Amino acid sequence: MRILFVCLGNICRSPLAHGVFEHVADEMGLKVVVDSAGTGGWHVGNPPDPRSVHVAADHGIDVTGQRARRFVVEDFSRFDLILGMDESNVATIGAMAADETAATVGLFMRHVLGRTDNVPDPYYGGDDGFEACYRMIRAGAEALGTRLASGIDKPPRS
Ligand code: 4NP
Repeated sequence: MRILFVCLGNICRSPLAHGVFEHVADEMGLKVVVDSAGTGGWHVGNPPDPRSVHVAADHGIDVTGQRARRFVVEDFSRFDLILGMDESNVATIGAMAADETAATVGLFMRHVLGRTDNVPDPYYGGDDGFEACYRMIRAGAEALGTRLASGIDKPPRS
């Protein structure tokens, strides 16, 4: 199963989701390929925002090895599940999709927990916004792990 987390800059939310889900999947013994990308290109090649690095480290997760990249159309065939952190990310990805894409594209919290909330963009706020993001992402990552372990999310047959 190949899972891609997408946000705007690929330096705050999706790198956290990438690191947290890898950690959760490892703890659950799930075989997954995980990556993250941004719909915007401003930070390509940069490591995650120091505030994401710190909040991840506070919870025992190292995201320092990640580098930002931009979402590309090839990601539709490279990943089975593409999860946007907010509705605007999902809309941007959706507009890039060809008619026939095998990948499932959706809003992270809706797909995994049936919740309609966006993971709010913490970039212009304070450290507490990053902790709030971490908590949402952690809950979503655990729910995603449970879905994969129980076979709810499956790679497409092809
Ligand atoms: P992210 O946060 O989408 O969670 O990585 C942002 C990072 C940078 C910018 C916006 C959002 N920016 O405008 O540079």
